[in-house]
Amino acid sequence: MAESITITDNRTGDSIEIPIDNGGVAATEWHKLLPDIWFYDPAFMQTAACASAVSYLDGDAGILRYRGYPIDQLAEKSTYLEVAYLLQFGELPNAKQFEDWTREITYHTYIHENLRKRFMDGFHYDAHPMGMLVSGVAALSTFYPEAKDIFDKEQRHKQIVRLIAKMPTIAACAYRFSQGMPFIYPDNDMSFTANFLRMMFEPRRDVDWNDPVLAKALDVLFILHADHEQNCSTTTMRVVGSSHTDPYTATSAACAGLYGPRHGGANEQVIRMLMEIGSIDNVEDFIKGVKSGSGRLQGFGHRVYKNYDPRARIIKKTADEVFEVTGKNPLLDIALKLEEVALADDYFISRRLYPNVDFYSGLIYQAMGFPLDIFTVLFAIPRTSGWLAHWEEMLEQDSKIARPRQLYIGAPERDYAPIANRG
Ligand code: CMC
Repeated sequence: MAESITITDNRTGDSIEIPIDNGGVAATEWHKLLPDIWFYDPAFMQTAACASAVSYLDGDAGILRYRGYPIDQLAEKSTYLEVAYLLQFGELPNAKQFEDWTREITYHTYIHENLRKRFMDGFHYDAHPMGMLVSGVAALSTFYPEAKDIFDKEQRHKQIVRLIAKMPTIAACAYRFSQGMPFIYPDNDMSFTANFLRMMFEPRRDVDWNDPVLAKALDVLFILHADHEQNCSTTTMRVVGSSHTDPYTATSAACAGLYGPRHGGANEQVIRMLMEIGSIDNVEDFIKGVKSGSGRLQGFGHRVYKNYDPRARIIKKTADEVFEVTGKNPLLDIALKLEEVALADDYFISRRLYPNVDFYSGLIYQAMGFPLDIFTVLFAIPRTSGWLAHWEEMLEQDSKIARPRQLYIGAPERDYAPIANRG
């Protein structure tokens, strides 16, 4: 027998039986019995806002899968571009499909000169690269007006390819602008990440940007960041996309969601925190401060993971490989000590707070030579493929425009008073 729940309205004695489907109950069924009673669920703590086949997350067991494939297998055996294909199309590509996909992405890495010269160069000299990214991605929509044709599958595909391909170019452009360095055009003979590292750092000699170990490590980090079901930025993508805006504008909104320190901005905050702690001798005091409410342990805790984030485990291994090339990040010892102290402390144990993906990723980025304020941009580049997979899935489901209800807690009706009578 199918599982169900029964809800009774105690005011009338009326009941309704609602089937449990894929772990949820349909609010439309509830609506039949209680049309004017809303679920009060700020921050969607207990609400599934969509049905999705893109990624699966079990926070208690620490499991993450893209389209059914465990994240550790993908990190070990796949590449970011293959994962982007998997997210988009639902299946791993065969050799021909992968060759075509790689060629498509590679041929769309260039950005229009006007975007770079007129738009990106117009920012203030110390503009945050995430602010530049949010605006640059939104500006792309003005270069591709055909992107508004979101129900033409061919057009949709073209914009998806453009967005995945152009993100590293815009990111590198934002970084070089902030450094006062001239822009470098993409080299389409190079791999996705090797090309990005080159666009960022050439001709610097103090950074090992052309070491294949770093390109591989960045590729692994891109795989780990590519999707994470209905987080804040992906939900933004779906909500904004549900108004049928073009994908550039929706992706720009998703980037804005990612920017905040509670979400993609946490990797930057972790490094700032480690620098502030300064020495392993200060770790115990810092943890005491967190427990007494003077701030959060950045890179710890997660809305869904109540166990070790599986991505954090993989990142630790990647960190070792990167530090072999770059030398150890001096902040690593502080991070290891923090993790050790926190994981043994009842405050963190009882709240099930574990390191998340951002706890170690920043250490790797910093060792590779990336400045702190570009870290969130490094998150946005691969997450674009996840956002777009959700966007297309949402359009194919022909979802309605996102429009939640509210519980009104304001003033009752009252009459307008002229300014002279307002006391
Ligand atoms: N340090 C100290 N205490 C914490 C932390 C932390 N990092 N995270 C949660 N808590 C405490 C919080 O104070 C609360 O305690 P109490 O019940 O006594 O009030 C309890 O744990 C539950 O916290 P919450 O804020 O209700 O949990 P949430 O699910 O709303 O927040 C979170 C999740 C990720 C925003 C939060 O854990 C956090 O702020 N972490 C630090 C920032 C961070 O690392 N963000 C990256 C998340 S992973 C990558 C991504 O999604 O982009």
